[in-house]
Amino acid sequence: MKKVTYKFSSASTDFYFDASFAQLSKLLAKDNGVIVTDEHIFSKHKTKFRGWNVIVLKPGEQYKVQQTVDTVIDQLLELGTDRKTVLVGVGGGVITDITGYVAAVYMRGLRFGFVPTSVLAMVDAAIGGKNGVDVGVYKNMVGTIRQPSFLLYDYSLLSSLPKKEWRNGFAEIIKHAAIKEVGMFKLLEQYSLKEFQRTKKLLASLIEANAKIKATVVQNDEFERGERRLLNFGHTLGHAVENLYELSHGEAIAIGMTVATQLSEQLIGLKEGRRIVDLLDKYGLPTYAEYDKKKAFDVLKMDKKKVKSEMNYILLEKIGKGVVKTIPLKQLEKIIQDL
Ligand SMILES: NC(=O)c1ccc[n+]([C@@H]2O[C@H](COP(=O)([O-])OP(=O)(O)OC[C@H]3O[C@@H](n4cnc5c(N)ncnc54)[C@H](O)[C@@H]3O)[C@@H](O)[C@H]2O)c1
Repeated sequence: MKKVTYKFSSASTDFYFDASFAQLSKLLAKDNGVIVTDEHIFSKHKTKFRGWNVIVLKPGEQYKVQQTVDTVIDQLLELGTDRKTVLVGVGGGVITDITGYVAAVYMRGLRFGFVPTSVLAMVDAAIGGKNGVDVGVYKNMVGTIRQPSFLLYDYSLLSSLPKKEWRNGFAEIIKHAAIKEVGMFKLLEQYSLKEFQRTKKLLASLIEANAKIKATVVQNDEFERGERRLLNFGHTLGHAVENLYELSHGEAIAIGMTVATQLSEQLIGLKEGRRIVDLLDKYGLPTYAEYDKKKAFDVLKMDKKKVKSEMNYILLEKIGKGVVKTIPLKQLEKIIQDL
């Protein structure tokens, strides 16, 4: 187990890489913690949860809503929890988002940590303290920014992760490489998903490098006034099509990254766009997709990155260098229509 601590404005998070789930009981006493997880993870790893208080939720994005938050709060009351209780989200991004949000509001705030179980949660969702729920088709419309106390990485949990979810996680990894690290981009071009799945060392170092990218970006800009906005590469259109078409998060942002790549070529002269589309394709992600552009634009207009009649869109100057560009909504609508 390797401990790395990142300090944020009001709290720090201890990252325990190369850890095992059993070591969770070294971080907090079992009777002082409540684990929140979902049915998939609970059924695949039942024995690991022995001795813990566990709240098991139905899996899936459709349950990342206020109603689920209320049921968790009811169960916390039934369990007789108090302000000293520590909540631990053991799951993918849906579970970490719900757990972090409940921990922020229940009794005006409990200590919390995560054991991410999907690639996506390990490299992205569990890091950075943004947690919340969806409202109708609007993703993450309600939420809080508050850092977890710890993250525990047990890569063996990934043994039960469905193939589709591996691809989703790699969409965010490709995103990180595209906006921040050309070296990682080349590594992804060199190896395949199968090779990362097979070689524990390779996977562990990729996940750790990605966690570092996310944590460092958040550290530099916790409240999303500058650099953190880069993490939204592919997410503006991605979020709009995600709920409209019930795509998975990774599929949706892969489509979003393809559109952002095309916009980058048109607006700021990106030259290597083909490599990005090819890499998404290599990792089994969709790229050029048919979607109702008008409907998608109607949802996109409500995005949190909109400021009055302009949208802060994340583009690429080159591979490894993302930039924020302000595009008037009218111009954006026309370009998207014409793509
Ligand atoms: N808070 C943030 O900063 C942030 C960042 C990125 C994404 N997110 C959110 O994360 C969510 C997506 O995360 P996700 O892709 O992990 O989704 P998820 O939590 O829905 O997990 C995907 C599926 O995989 C299953 N699963 C997860 N780990 C498993 C394992 N080890 N074994 C077997 N099954 C497993 C889950 O039960 C689920 O069916 C979205 O809601 C997105 O908005 C949040």
